[in-house]
Amino acid sequence: MKHLLSIKELTQQQLLDLITLAKTIKANPAEYRHALDGKSVVMLFEKPSLRTRVSFDIGINKLGGHCLYLDQQNGALGKRESVADFASNLSCWADAIVARTFSHTTIEQLAEFGTVPVINALSDLYHPCQALADFLTLAEHFENISDVKLAYVGDGNNVTNSLMYCAAILGATMTVICPAGHFPDGYVVAEVQELASRYGGKVVLTSDIGAIEGHDAIYTDTWISMGDPTPLAEIKDKFAPYQVNKGLMAKAGAHFFMHCLPAHRGVEVTDEVMDGEGSLILQQAENRMHAQNAVLVTLFS
Ligand code: CP
Ligand code: NVA
Repeated sequence: MKHLLSIKELTQQQLLDLITLAKTIKANPAEYRHALDGKSVVMLFEKPSLRTRVSFDIGINKLGGHCLYLDQQNGALGKRESVADFASNLSCWADAIVARTFSHTTIEQLAEFGTVPVINALSDLYHPCQALADFLTLAEHFENISDVKLAYVGDGNNVTNSLMYCAAILGATMTVICPAGHFPDGYVVAEVQELASRYGGKVVLTSDIGAIEGHDAIYTDTWISMGDPTPLAEIKDKFAPYQVNKGLMAKAGAHFFMHCLPAHRGVEVTDEVMDGEGSLILQQAENRMHAQNAVLVTLFS
């Protein structure tokens, strides 16, 4: 493993190894206190963040490394100088780059023109660290991850894409339920189906909210992702049947609710589900750090 740009680059064994390592680091943090001794990681963010920024910063510190946060105020990526020059300069000092960008192409360029590992901290296409943390969370509740039946409801976005790749590669079952016109990109779905047939996963996409029945966990995300100028009023009615509420959870027969956060309470999910017994949101948030630390330890080993 040279970079983590997308889940699709990983084999089933690599994914399982990352989940196992994340569990080990979570259980025995002291053993990894020096794993990143002397290493410096630059975190480059074009978009806001709470969980990703804090979990990387604190996680890197717990591994003995040092990190530096770069926002866009001291020269936006690709504006003051090219992404290629940015990447080659950062590689002179940093041992790895964590980047959250608008365009996935920017992350690919950082990997192409830099000489150090690049970790995707969210792009318009993917959110691999999120999906890793989410499947780590599921693995803490299900002995065999391939037994999991996950339903994703709402907008087909970067989070959906990474979750689909994970489900396909891990041999799990995932149903993606989106309003018409809001499905994940066709080529992503085609790649996911190819991986699912290779690894024994099952990924089904539909607009029929009735397909929610018979799932273990229901996952949703914002209906409007960062950088999308669509006003909520424009899509609200179309998305309303896809809101995760008590009725939908009951219909699904699901014990668990998942959300990558930030959530829009009363929009894509109700308070009673967010704060309900089966809500895994804080476990997911905590696991961001353990999953990312497993990625860092693997990239540096
Ligand atoms: N889930 C997630 O990536 O949260 P942030 O946008 O706060 O980093
Ligand atoms: N799909 C969301 C995820 C936020 C963590 C976005 O891209 O804004």
